[in-house]
Amino acid sequence: TPRIFSGIQPSGGLTLGNYLGALKRFVEKQDEGIETIYCLVDMHAITVWQSPADLRRQTREGAAAFIAAGIDPKRSILFNQSQVSAHAELGWIFNCVARMGWMGRMTQWKDKAGKNSENASLGLFAYPALMAADILAYKATHVPVGEDQKQHLELTRDIAAKFNNDYGVNFFPITEPVIEGAATRVMSLRDGSKKMSKSDPSDQSRINLTDDADAIAAKIRKAKTDPEPLPDTLDGLKDRPEARNLVNIYAALAGLTPAAVVAEHAGAQFGTFKPRLAELAVSVLSPITTEMNRLMADPAEIDRILGEGSARAEAIARPILDEVYDIVGMVRSR
Ligand code: TYM
Repeated sequence: TPRIFSGIQPSGGLTLGNYLGALKRFVEKQDEGIETIYCLVDMHAITVWQSPADLRRQTREGAAAFIAAGIDPKRSILFNQSQVSAHAELGWIFNCVARMGWMGRMTQWKDKAGKNSENASLGLFAYPALMAADILAYKATHVPVGEDQKQHLELTRDIAAKFNNDYGVNFFPITEPVIEGAATRVMSLRDGSKKMSKSDPSDQSRINLTDDADAIAAKIRKAKTDPEPLPDTLDGLKDRPEARNLVNIYAALAGLTPAAVVAEHAGAQFGTFKPRLAELAVSVLSPITTEMNRLMADPAEIDRILGEGSARAEAIARPILDEVYDIVGMVRSR
């Protein structure tokens, strides 16, 4: 039977990219009745510096975003990573399965460590092994993510296969990435060649889930575009990354295909299309923002939900970890 796991880093406020590429699809999976486990990966977040106050706030805000977007903490398991020690434990074992060379080839490592990798944390280098542990501690079969996580999920498959092979077992599943929909890679509003990211220094480059209606409309109005009107087929968007991005965002928000959006708005100038997009974005995001703010007024309730989710997560992961220790040959005598 399928089991879904996915995670989001509480390393900043969530963006429209996180919403369309991940959160919205997490809710769809839950609503299809699949077993769904969703995690705020606070241990991944500290691979780059987070002040304790920011980490706490971002973790609670992330949880509020999940719930506001439609995650029901009764139907899904919603928790934060550090409350379930199986992640750290299996992460260590996978540090000993994964190879330095595999890690060194990760594009996220190369991007984030940059030229000064001597000064990056060891945790940033090991990041994908902990991510594999997140998934495999539950023997999850499917992992919905945005396009940027594809390479990490391939590595998860490599780790599972090497563990199975090294120990001569058929224990871990070979997980399927689920990268689907019109918005698997939402791009920056300022530069169609960069992905929309919570860490971009320019706030104009992204829509935050905490932005109000005016801010959303202003950012879309100022979004970079080209002077051509919208074409009547998707072909006409080739080599027009900014235009293509706005069409993809519209499609994902409206639940349409990009081809249908282009057909509907064929010949429209961006002066007309952008206000329509802004209106759509506000109509989808405003209720989520309002609900997030309501939830954030009661952090103790959020903490209670995360605690309950953590206990349910632990109940699934612990027996799997017990088997892993046995397979690896660690003496367990109490
Ligand atoms: P993170 O926190 O960077 O992003 C969370 C999710 O949002 C997706 N995403 C996007 N999708 C479309 N367009 C964008 N511009 C965009 N930006 C982000 C990401 O692909 C992701 O699905 N390593 C992960 C967190 C993680 C994880 C896991 C995910 C840790 N353990 C286990 C799945 C399974 C990350 O940094 O996501």
